[in-house]
Amino acid sequence: MPVDAAHALLAWYDAHARALPWRAPPGTSAPDPYRVWLSEIMLQQTTVAAVGPYFAKFTRAWPTVADLAAADEAELMAAWAGLGYYARARNLIACARAVMADHGGRFPDSEEGLRALPGIGAYTAAAIAAIAFGRRAVVVDANVERVVTRLFACGEPLPNARPRIRELTDSITPDARAGDFAQAMMDLGATVCTVRNPRCGSCPLGAGCEARAEGNAEAYPVKPPRKAKPRRKGIAYWLESDGAVLLVRRPGKGMLGGMRALPGGAWGDAADATPPLDADWRPIGTVEHVFTHFALSLDVMATHLPGRPIEGEWWPVDRIGEAGLPTLYARAATLGRASQEMLAL
Ligand code: ADE
Repeated sequence: MPVDAAHALLAWYDAHARALPWRAPPGTSAPDPYRVWLSEIMLQQTTVAAVGPYFAKFTRAWPTVADLAAADEAELMAAWAGLGYYARARNLIACARAVMADHGGRFPDSEEGLRALPGIGAYTAAAIAAIAFGRRAVVVDANVERVVTRLFACGEPLPNARPRIRELTDSITPDARAGDFAQAMMDLGATVCTVRNPRCGSCPLGAGCEARAEGNAEAYPVKPPRKAKPRRKGIAYWLESDGAVLLVRRPGKGMLGGMRALPGGAWGDAADATPPLDADWRPIGTVEHVFTHFALSLDVMATHLPGRPIEGEWWPVDRIGEAGLPTLYARAATLGRASQEMLAL
C-alpha cells in the first residue's frame, strides 16, 4: 500500500502538469465551471489532442453558458461534426439551457446537483465538482483505472473490478486539492503510466507500486476477452445537380442523431435502401467505419442530374467541408466529389 500517494503525486503535478486551455495552473484558484464542464464533455472517449481545436472553436463562438444556451442548434451540431458521439452535442445544449432556466446561469457546485443535469454522469459530475469547485470527489476515468489497478496490483478483470477500483481511488484521494489530484492522476496515466511501455523509472508513485514490484505493470488493468464487433451494411446516395449535392438531417435520436447526412436508409444485415429518386445510380466505393458497438460498410452510390430534380437541402459541393458532416459522411462525400470524373460524366 503506497504511503501518501497523494503527496507524491501532487508534488509531481506541480512540476509536470500539462498546460491545457481549460485548466488553472496547479495550486491556483479554480477555473471557470463552464470551461471545465465543456472540456469534460468533449474529453469523454476523446483524446486531449482531438479536443483542443474544438474547445478553442466552441469557447470563441460561445464564451459563456448563456451564449451556449442561446446557440442555434443546427450551428452547434455542425460545429461538433468530427468529434463523434453526437448525443454529447445534443445534451450540451439541453444542459446549458437547464443551467440557465433552473440554476440562474450558474452550474451547481455539488456532485448530486451536477448529476441531475443532461449528459452529466457519475464521472463527469465528480470531475467538475473536484476541478471547478474544489470538492473532494472520487474521479475515475480510464487513465485513473490504469494507475490505480497498477498501484494496487488489482487483478480482477474489468468491468467487474470497477467498485473495487473506486474504493481504492477513494483511499488515496486527499481532502485538499481534489481537482489537482484528479488531473494529476489523468496526466500520470497519459504521460507516464501509459498503456504500453510505462515509464516506471520516472513515476512519482513507483516506489509504492505493486505492479512495478511484480515487474508486470502492463498486465493491468485486466481486460475482459474482446468480442468481435457485429458488422452492419448501409447505402448513401450522392445526388449531385448543378454544383450542389442533396443533404438530409438524421432523426434527432439514435446514431449521428440530428446531424446532416447523405440520404440513405437504415443500416442492417443487408445494404438496401430506397434512393431519393429513380435514376441511373452507380456504385462509387465503400466507406468502412468503426463505431463503438459495430462496424459499418457504407456503399456509396452516385448520380448526376441537371435542374435540382427534387425538393430538399442542396449544398454547394465546393463548400461541402462547411456542412458539418460527421466523419462517416465526410468520407462518403470525398468519394462523391470524385464521382464526376470517375463515372466520366
Ligand atoms: N481527461 C478528462 N478530463 C481531463 C482533464 N481535465 N485533463 C486531462 N485529461 C482529461
